[in-house]
Amino acid sequence: MPALRVFSGIQPTADSFHLGNYLGALRQWVALQETHDAFYCVVDLHAITVPQDPALLRRRSRIAVAQLFAAGLDPERCTVFVQSHIPEHAELAWVLSCLTGFGEASRMVQFKDKAQKSGADQASVGLFTYPILQAADILLYQTDQVPVGEDQRQHLELTRDLAQRFNRRFGDTFVVPGPYIVADVAKISDLQDPSVKMSKSASAPQGIVDVLEEPASIRRKISRAVTDLDTDIRADEQAKPGVTNLLRIYAALSGASVADLEARYAGAGYGAFKKDLAEVVVSALAPIREQAEKMLADEAELDRLLAAGAARAREVASRTMAQVRDRVGFLASR
Ligand code: TRP
Repeated sequence: MPALRVFSGIQPTADSFHLGNYLGALRQWVALQETHDAFYCVVDLHAITVPQDPALLRRRSRIAVAQLFAAGLDPERCTVFVQSHIPEHAELAWVLSCLTGFGEASRMVQFKDKAQKSGADQASVGLFTYPILQAADILLYQTDQVPVGEDQRQHLELTRDLAQRFNRRFGDTFVVPGPYIVADVAKISDLQDPSVKMSKSASAPQGIVDVLEEPASIRRKISRAVTDLDTDIRADEQAKPGVTNLLRIYAALSGASVADLEARYAGAGYGAFKKDLAEVVVSALAPIREQAEKMLADEAELDRLLAAGAARAREVASRTMAQVRDRVGFLASR
């Protein structure tokens, strides 16, 4: 049986991925390349749904790709590419947008959240149709499974609805994708406000650990992470969200269970615990930072890897899109 295909995407909108991205997504991506036919896309078309500086976007796309490879994606084992290199994404998004009800699109809660933040008048039509572009990403590659977090569930549901609608109206064309559910993915919170998840949009810099961050800065942020009034090192989501978050990070990066760590640090005090945790985080991220920096220093090689990824992606995308054009009734162009 051929391996199931997975597809996932990440936006190139930061100077570094953060620990939440790493533990919540990238690590799963690396594991999935061993068991699946994996396609991973740096979604620069999605990035421009909010204003981007062109030079910065180019830079961040390279940074994103370098981190993906540095974190362990292997160009021999999976396909890594940049969305804008494959024009079929935008083309399929158009076709799918013509199958999407205005009311249906209006129900997407992520748009409502983001539009509320920027002010409804500032939000672009591209931001509104973002989930349709995401559906195009997934469907172009005949994806079986999409590893996505809770916040992307609704977009995956829309993707499934659009695939089924197209297939019903025009004949079987798309694989209808399902979620890839990761058993115990570590949910990482902001170091300063453990009630919110670590995220570029919601967190202050002090609340985030970046993958490409210097060790001294990582150590400082962890030593200043919020804890609680008592001194116990134990997980308790309600009473001790700060310490619980730190225990989760420690467990996720070290392989020890939270229970192991509670036993190991019983009576130790926050200082010693945080000191050890900082070293665990630094030694997990340092090799990724060093490798990413090495790759960023050789743009020609990075571009060569991206060209190879795009060639593989194009092969699948062009086949799907040729079928779509034919099914919807576009004249063949000769
Ligand atoms: N919307 C996703 C996010 O913000 C990124 C994304 C774009 C994506 N296209 C995708 C994720 C396709 C999975 C599949 O995380």
